[in-house]
Amino acid sequence: MKCSFTVYRFDPAVDKKGRYQEYTLEAERTDKILDCLNKIRWEQDPTLAYRFSCAHGICGSDAMVINGRIELACQKLVKDFKTGNNFVIEPLPLFSVIKDLIVDMNPFFAKHRHIRPYLITAGKALAEEFLQDAAQQAVIEPALRCILCASCTAACPINRANGEYLGPAALLRAFRYIFDSRDAATDSRLVQIDSPEGVWGCKSMRWCTDVCPKGIPVTKCLGQIKRLVKQRAQGPSREPRP
Ligand code: SF4
Ligand code: FES
Repeated sequence: MKCSFTVYRFDPAVDKKGRYQEYTLEAERTDKILDCLNKIRWEQDPTLAYRFSCAHGICGSDAMVINGRIELACQKLVKDFKTGNNFVIEPLPLFSVIKDLIVDMNPFFAKHRHIRPYLITAGKALAEEFLQDAAQQAVIEPALRCILCASCTAACPINRANGEYLGPAALLRAFRYIFDSRDAATDSRLVQIDSPEGVWGCKSMRWCTDVCPKGIPVTKCLGQIKRLVKQRAQGPSREPRP
């Protein structure tokens, strides 16, 4: 069927501001939106720029705004939209546009690095195994599904108002280590994010949870961090892990 794609374009080499370009193409109802962008690029306009890699919802590189909602282009099919055959494709909000649908993810990954996204084991010998049972693993399992697509952070209204706020993706990654039974840096991790730019920046507006393409209960995880911060403030003896 014939589909119309209105795509945001911006080339810093020639454009002073963004503009929209119309494309018409033949697509199947079962085509992914990413397939459609590929058709445009391969058959009509090789200058159209966007990111993708896996095409299967794993790498997190093709988050964009499709008909006003943040989605992964590889996870949405033409038939998933109630807007008929018309699609408007725009880059992720919050981040500055490098070209067309490609945004600058450096600020996003800087915040990710800031929360120390790795296991801290307090000098345990590297030759030893870091055992974890199924129940302990289940606590952090939702956060393990995160593909760092930045959809949640781009959607978060707090992030849009306060550029210093770490944002839901970085805080979810903090959750993943704070509640990891093998990590030895719980206290310093909690201290690091116990601020308005950290976990208290979250006002539980749930936009992050709503857009997450992996169905992660982001707001709930951040709530668990808040509870643990409060419990820690009341004394080290009150240190339950969920
Ligand atoms: Fe993407 Fe969800 Fe991870 Fe946020 S929590 S970066 S929306 S996968
Ligand atoms: Fe990898 Fe969509 S291309 S998540």
